[in-house]
Parts: sequence; structure tokens; C-alpha cells
Amino acid sequence: MSQQVFDFDVLVIGSGAAGLTLALRLGTSVKVGIISKGPISAGSTAWAQGGIAAVLHDKDSIESHVEDTLNAGAGLCKEETVRFVVEHGREAIEWLIAQGVPFSRREQPHDPTELHLTMEGGHSHRRVAHVADATGRAIEMSLESRVRHRRNIQLFEDHTAVDLVRVGDGASGRCVGAYVYDNRRDQVDLYRAPAVVLATGGASRVYLYTTNPDGSTGDGIAMAWRAGCRVANMEFNQFHPTCLYHPEARNFLISEALRGEGAKLKLPDGSTFMQRFDPRAELAPRDIVARAIDHEMKRLGIDCVYLDISHQPAEFIMNHFPTIYSRCLKLGFDLTRQPIPVVPAAHYTCGGVVTDLRGRTDLAGLYAVGEVTCTGLHGANRMASNSLLECLVFGAAAAEDIGATLADLPAPPTVALWDESRVTDSDEEVVVSHNWNELRHFMWDYVGIVRTDKRLERAARRVDLLTREIHDYYRNFRVTKDLLELRNLVVVADLIVRSAMARKESRGLHYTTDYPDKLPGAPQDTVLTSTPRPI
Ligand code: FAD
Ligand code: SIN
Repeated sequence: MSQQVFDFDVLVIGSGAAGLTLALRLGTSVKVGIISKGPISAGSTAWAQGGIAAVLHDKDSIESHVEDTLNAGAGLCKEETVRFVVEHGREAIEWLIAQGVPFSRREQPHDPTELHLTMEGGHSHRRVAHVADATGRAIEMSLESRVRHRRNIQLFEDHTAVDLVRVGDGASGRCVGAYVYDNRRDQVDLYRAPAVVLATGGASRVYLYTTNPDGSTGDGIAMAWRAGCRVANMEFNQFHPTCLYHPEARNFLISEALRGEGAKLKLPDGSTFMQRFDPRAELAPRDIVARAIDHEMKRLGIDCVYLDISHQPAEFIMNHFPTIYSRCLKLGFDLTRQPIPVVPAAHYTCGGVVTDLRGRTDLAGLYAVGEVTCTGLHGANRMASNSLLECLVFGAAAAEDIGATLADLPAPPTVALWDESRVTDSDEEVVVSHNWNELRHFMWDYVGIVRTDKRLERAARRVDLLTREIHDYYRNFRVTKDLLELRNLVVVADLIVRSAMARKESRGLHYTTDYPDKLPGAPQDTVLTSTPRPI
């Protein structure tokens, strides 16, 4: 089958909240291509439950949201970024409402237009706007429907970006497109554009247990790294404290909003324990709650702890958490009557591709927005519901910058087509599935919630071996989606392990028993620098 070449003004890789916001915020005369490696709504966005944090209540303030975010981030947030995002929160919510997102309203309103705001860990005010307990699905559906009606936007579902196309060396380097694998045609094509945007989401599938969908394999982080961009703070992997513990409930999240509405964490004997770890108890930031659960599970040799909201009226529970209620009920747990079993699971990648306040990366022509980035908003620990906000604010900021500069960007030069002349069909697909499993197992065991130097060294040795094996495999065989994802996952694992080994302290989400305290002095980001590699 012959290779094709596609030309756009802007190529957006990823169709979650970040990518769709950016595409919709561009002018209607800009020719935009959006590629997504699955169906358009397959990313984390559609799975988001709790909501979006923004200062919307009279008693709340920008200062308070900034302060809470800085506190959760354990000294590593960039205050300029935090302020920028928080100050744009209200506008982001208003834009979503204009796109048709049906936010939950107050039940007995003084003003019927007032949104219902919920509470989550780390927040000192109710400031989380939500659509019951399926906020992400409502956002993704509204944005998807808008995008599908925009004539200037072309969608490519089931297309996996393989690598960015970079021309030029050093400071004169620029990104001019991407090689993209069409999963249906089994063919790699060339997509050219003077502005390329990574909106590929996070990398939590690098861990065995995760709340994330299958596609969260860190592709954008790995592609940017191979193209020569800096990547920062990859040791800060957020583990959500409460994923449903049930063999059939593969990675089903139990929203933090339950704890926001009074749910208690309990041990098998029915006793609560969070107050022993933090005065904020269930509403302490996530790193603290996840570590406390991990500690209690290891101390007592138990498989899970329990989350109990059954003291709230049944009607309240069913109205506020209809998705979680019905999913649990199908699995035999009635939230209104009994505690449910929960465990922590990998949830969010705080580190990522370094960007500025306009979403620009180190490489000219390349932008990054959403979970793929490290903007400085989250520092060492993301506060609940700040992620969707970041996607919306940076999606808009990057679109504005692209709109203002597009006319001055040089047209992409002629570049080589994808070269398949030296590869054949794989003879041993089992290598890919085996290495996927192995990688995710040892990352969970050795680079999880609690780390040690010894565990990290073990992980590093395994990452080295797998890197060599996967690289050989990639050079010799035709690409498949699984192989591309595995190739990216091992890069991400390497970046996580190296970053974790470099941090000789415990801070935020990075906790090591070898260095249990914070280092004195000004906290430092872990910034890894890369030299561009041949594709
Ligand atoms: P995603 O929504 O993950 O989208 C990534 C896109 O990139 C997808 O379209 C994917 O197909 C595409 N892609 C990836 N790699 C490639 C490739 N190589 N080629 C082509 N396409 C590619 N945050 C909050 O703020 N509030 C919440 O309540 C909340 N709840 C959450 C609940 C769950 C269960 C999960 C998993 C996360 C939650 N988060 C929440 C986090 C938040 O949902 C995500 O951080 C956010 O949605 C990320 O959006 P994104 O656009 O960056 O990426
Ligand atoms: C949740 O609903 O608990 C997830 C919120 C988030 O990840 O921000």
C-alpha cells in the first residue's frame, strides 16, 4: 500500500480535553488535523469523575486556590504558572458552558444559574465544578461534538503518531510534522505542519495497577525526548488512593469527591486511620492518603482498605455519584449500605515535557499541552481537579500563540518518507507482550509508592536490558501499535527511574525510605536533557 503525505497548518496529536480545546480555540480558517490512536474519546479525559477546580464562589479567592496548589505541590510548583492557571479558571469554565457542558447546579439555589461546587483533598474551599460524577465524559462529548461540526478540522481516529519530524540541528532545529501509523491500513504516513502540538496525555500505564485507560503510555513524552526536548520531574507519579478493589473492576476509580462529601477510610475492623497520619484526615493531599493506605496494608498484611459513605442519605449518594453507585452495585457493593474495598493505583504523571506559559517546548514549531507537560503547575504533587483546568487553560494559551505566529512560520520543507526497506514482519509477537508485562510489574514493585535506592537500582538494570531488546526489535520489524507503545513505555520508565535516583530526598509523591526527609534549601526540579536521536 502506498504511503500518503498530509499537509495541515496545525497538527494536533491527541484528542482529550487539551487537544480538543486547542483545536477549537484556533480560528476557523486554520487547517487543523487531529490524530488519535483510538476512538476520539479514548483518553483519560472521558474517564474523569470529580470535576474541575476554579474560583467560582464568593467566599473563595484566587489567593486561596494558589496557596492550596502551592501547598500540595510541596515546594516545587512555579508560582507564576499556578497564578496564570488559577486566574484563568473562571474563563475556562465559562467557555466549557458555552460549548454545552451541563455542569451540575445547586439543588436549592438562591440563583438557579449557580453551579454546585464539591470538595476534594487539599482544597480549603468548595471549588470543584462537576457534572455529577462523570465530568470528563460530559466535557469530552461536548468538545467532540463541536469538533465534528468544524469544517476546518479533520479527524484521524485509530492513527498512532510514531515520531516527530525534526529538521535542523541545535538551536536551528524545528518540528515540521510527524510520522503516523494508520492502525487500519497498517501503514506509516507523513503528516506535515509548521505547528505541531503534543496532547497525548500521561504515562500511568507504565505501572501494573492504574486508573488510566490503555492509551496512557507516555507517547508524547517519549517522542519529545527523542526529538531533543527537556523532560522534568518524572519521579512524581501520582497514585490515587481509591481505586475499586475487585477482579472484574479493572481500574475503576472511586472519586475523591466521595471523601469530599464525607466518606471515611476504614480498616477491616471498621476503625478509621487517616487521623493518625494527617490532621486533615481523608482530605489531606493525595500523596499523604495513598502512602497512609499503603502503610496500613503492609502493616496489617491486608489486600485493601475500605471506603464508607453509607452514613449519608441514600438519595444524596445516588444523586451525586450515579455512575459510581451503579457500577459498584453491578459488582455486588451497595454504596448506600456498606463500605467498599479500595486500593491505591497509578493515576497521574506530574512530570513531562517542559513548556512555557504559551505551551511552547524547547523545539521551535512544537507545542505541548495537558498531562504530557511539565508546566510547573503541579510541582511534586498535583492537587485534585487541577488537571482538567490545566488542559483548558494551556489549550487556549497555546492556540492563541499559534494563531499569532502561524503566518510567520516557514512552510515545512521536503522531508524523507517513512523507510521500511530494512524491516520485516515480526516472527515473535510474544516478545512485545512479555516485555509489556515485565516492565509494568517491576515498575509497580520497585518504583511505586515507597522507593529505596536498592529497588531503583534493580529497576534501572531491568530498564537497560529491556531498552536494548525493544530497540533491536523496533529496528528489525514492522511497527504495530503495541510495539510503538512499548517502545515509548520503556523510555518513560527510564526517565522515571533516572529522575527518582537523582532525587536524594522525599518530597511530595516521591518517597524513599533511604532519604525520608526533605533536603534543606531551595527545592530543585529534576530536569533531564536530551540530544535528538535518529528516528
Ligand atoms: P487525554 O485525555 O488522556 O488524551 C490523550 C489523547 O492522546 C487521546 O486521544 C489518545 O488517544 C491520544 N494519544 C496518545 N498517544 C498518541 C499517539 N502516539 N498518537 C496519537 N494519539 C495519541 N483530572 C481532573 O482535573 N479532574 C478529575 O476529576 C479527574 N478525574 C480523573 C479520573 C480518572 C479515572 C483518570 C484516569 C484521570 C482523571 N483526571 C482528572 C486526570 C485528567 O482526566 C487527565 O489528566 C486529563 O484528562 C488529561 O487530558 P489530556 O487531554 O492531556 O490527555
Ligand atoms: C477524582 O475524581 O478523584 C479524580 C480527581 C482528579 O484526579 O483530579
